[in-house]
Amino acid sequence: MTDPAQVAPVLDALVEPALLLDRAGRVALANPAARDVLGAWIVGQPHMAVLRQPALVSPVEDALAGGIEGRARITHSSGAVEAAYEVRITPLDGTVLLVFRDLTEAQAGASQRRDFVANVSHELKTPLTAIAGFIETLQGPARDDPAARGRFLAMMAQEVARMDRLVSDLLSLSRLEGQARRRPTDRLDLAALASEAAGLLRPGAEAEGVRIALDLPEAAPVQGDRDQLMQVLSNLIENAVKYGARPGRVTLTLQPVAREPVLRARAWRLEVADDGPGIAPEHVPRLTERFYRVDTGRSRAQGGTGLGLSIVKHIVNRHRGRLRIESAPGEGTRVSVILPAA
Ligand SMILES: Nc1ncnc2c1ncn2[C@@H]1O[C@H](COP(=O)(O)OP(=O)(O)OP(=O)(O)O)[C@@H](O)[C@H]1O
Ligand SMILES: [Mg+2]
Repeated sequence: MTDPAQVAPVLDALVEPALLLDRAGRVALANPAARDVLGAWIVGQPHMAVLRQPALVSPVEDALAGGIEGRARITHSSGAVEAAYEVRITPLDGTVLLVFRDLTEAQAGASQRRDFVANVSHELKTPLTAIAGFIETLQGPARDDPAARGRFLAMMAQEVARMDRLVSDLLSLSRLEGQARRRPTDRLDLAALASEAAGLLRPGAEAEGVRIALDLPEAAPVQGDRDQLMQVLSNLIENAVKYGARPGRVTLTLQPVAREPVLRARAWRLEVADDGPGIAPEHVPRLTERFYRVDTGRSRAQGGTGLGLSIVKHIVNRHRGRLRIESAPGEGTRVSVILPAA
């Protein structure tokens, strides 16, 4: 018979919960993951008492009595969490090994992917429907009306631009996912980038009655990807301008942090603050989700895709930095990006 003492280190090394049952069907060994999920009391107990899962009983009996391999799917709830597992049942010389594979994460991933595809389709469908409508009008009622034709073509161009932005944002996201583990290596000056980004956006902001004020140090060396950090800066400044007050004021500050507790290193804190209406607390934690918008109509009307902050978050993660959004209704919004100093 398999000696449990010999198998123990192997079970302990497994990430998945695993149990070894003795000939009598009692739990001879439970690795730390199994004890986490099922409780520490299970060692020495009959498997029926531990698992109480009808789907497992007959494959386990078959393995104990007949040395037959098996598989079963079970759901197990501990406290408020319910998890789905696929259990592999392997006879080992009289004993039986059970290894649990957590299906919950795989299932959550699949449902996230489905949601994502549905969202993308919907976001593309909206401008497509509009364009189809304009074409129909141009072919019919507006055929001989040059003024209407000009107006409709301009609106079609706007819808096409929106689809173009959406597709570029999606490509950025998928590129970023591929790069997540590769930290950028270029040495850059974050202060220079911040002032460049503010300079590019200032004319548009001022036309809207929004002033952009800067408080930047001489230089702020970081290790980063220039285009991506520019994307972070533009999105945060654009958001502050778009969703801030009219007339309004956006402040961009950059300060050294002697020792960032989470990064455990010297860092730079970049803050973009506006004096707009702010964001209700229930929305704040969700803003970095793809396509999440507080007011979809308003964001769309401004040409937004709702992907801006999720791209920002990916970029900040890739730079080993941290993103924080603080906001309260009536008090404006402050978004901080903390990046390790080079
Ligand atoms: N400074 C801000 N003040 C108030 N609300 C904000 C602010 N920044 C972001 N939001 C809210 O967060 C949502 C998500 O922002 P995000 O940048 O991801 O998308 P977007 O700005 O709508 O679209 P895009 O960035 O693609 O143009 C916005 O739609 C808006 O509702
Ligand atoms: Mg945005």
